[in-house]
Amino acid sequence: MLSGRGSNFVAIYEAIQRGDLNAEICCVISNVPDAAGLARAAEFGLTAISLPSRGIERAEYDRSLVKTLRAFDPALVCLAGFMRILSPEILKEFPGRILNIHPALLPAFPGLHAQKQALQYGVKLAGCTVHIADEGVDTGPILLQRAIEVLEGDTEETLSARILEQEHQTYWRAIGLMLARVNAAEGACK
Ligand code: GRF
Repeated sequence: MLSGRGSNFVAIYEAIQRGDLNAEICCVISNVPDAAGLARAAEFGLTAISLPSRGIERAEYDRSLVKTLRAFDPALVCLAGFMRILSPEILKEFPGRILNIHPALLPAFPGLHAQKQALQYGVKLAGCTVHIADEGVDTGPILLQRAIEVLEGDTEETLSARILEQEHQTYWRAIGLMLARVNAAEGACK
């Protein structure tokens, strides 16, 4: 699920195309109808669903998300720049199976403008985190992180660009780890 540019989604899609990630994207959902990422999904021939959230109360919106997602029975739900806090409606439908990526070394710098927060604090290491989503903002068990050095003269733009490169290497690996866990758990239940 995404709300914007969709570069993380594209990186996941490309990892699948290359054969690095054994997975299938059953649908791409955006709460922002004109999100660039949604247009890319349609170009790739994927099921691209626009589910506008503007003016809709959170729980009600999340119920419609759940209804939409249920039809696809996804093993995982991946938030890739999905700019919304999740309500219990959706979290309880996919317990421990919703992933998020954040451009900081959580638990440091959650929320918006994480890279700017990191620069302003003066940290020497920055990076990205893939974690299991919960009701908080960028909280929940961490799956993978990648760190990079903050360089002398880095701006929000230069730091964000280097972190983004790492995001693109990290998310599909975390999805691979989680799919292995989900499949092992399902195997154990049979
Ligand atoms: C990424 O920096 C991600 O970590 C954050 O939102 C941004 C989304 O970028 N959650 P993109 O839409 O995947 O290019």
